[in-house]
Amino acid sequence: MRNKVTKAIFPVAGLGTRFLPATKSVPKEIMTLVDRPLIQYAIDEARAAGIKEFIFVTSRGKGALEDYFDHAPQLENELRKKGKDELLEILKNTNMDSGAIAYLRQHKALGLGHAVWCARRLIGNEAFAVILPDDVIAAEKPCLQQMVEAFEETPGSMVAAMEVPSDKASSYGILDINEDKGAMVSVKGMVEKPKAGTQPSNLAVIGRYILTPDVLKNLNKMKSGAGGEIQLTDAIAEEIREGRPVYGHRFAGQRFDCGSKAGFLQATVAFGLSRDDLRDDLHTYLTEIMASEKAAQ
Ligand code: UTP
Repeated sequence: MRNKVTKAIFPVAGLGTRFLPATKSVPKEIMTLVDRPLIQYAIDEARAAGIKEFIFVTSRGKGALEDYFDHAPQLENELRKKGKDELLEILKNTNMDSGAIAYLRQHKALGLGHAVWCARRLIGNEAFAVILPDDVIAAEKPCLQQMVEAFEETPGSMVAAMEVPSDKASSYGILDINEDKGAMVSVKGMVEKPKAGTQPSNLAVIGRYILTPDVLKNLNKMKSGAGGEIQLTDAIAEEIREGRPVYGHRFAGQRFDCGSKAGFLQATVAFGLSRDDLRDDLHTYLTEIMASEKAAQ
């Protein structure tokens, strides 16, 4: 197996129920932070990490995602005629090289592990990345790039890891730590959504993974076993039981849970404030409403 990671899976087949009614007709991944859809942030992060093949696991109603990455000749011609080169340049970022992007369907929302398993034939026998676009990470060096570099040094399945408050641990997959080496943590177990107070640590798994093809074999076993939600963390935990290394990578950066309403709003404010063209107006507005909220208390 090569240590180079050039393929990434984007599981986008979930129902997005926390954003109903919007997600009745708009895929969650098309919702915009300022002026770019969530999926664009994920693609840019993957490109920065050296990913060349982009595999989308989609479901019914996600057609807008396919359109988003397609060329738009009519729109491009209009912009060209009007000399809007800046906008043309922005659109260029949304285009994919021919053959670089593949879409396949998860016919039933059987869980994240199942969505990843659906892409097994396109992955073959090499390490691959998984990116959940609703986890948006603001970082100087993009999170997946940090992980790819760590993987090249220390091969083995790897999950992005982040400290969470104790009372939030039951919402995450949590790592059972073997050895804590700072940025890299070797892992002896993983628990998906532990009951309050039973978590083995406060180090939570978030939506970036680099996985070896053995994880797909583990998912294969689960598929032929019992039905129900197929969890990706269970298949990674199986790696540990079989004696293969699994690591957590404490990335540098700030993660926003854009799969939740509160996280999405926080990200909107943070990304707005990070933009030169919006910062001043937004800052003034936020200061004013905070002051009037305070005065009203
Ligand atoms: P979530 O747990 O956020 O589920 O999935 P969801 O359906 O997207 O959203 P809610 O909870 O109903 O609001 C985490 C990631 O796994 C993908 C989702 O698309 C998301 O990127 N996923 C989940 C699948 O691709 N297939 C599944 O069967 C489940």
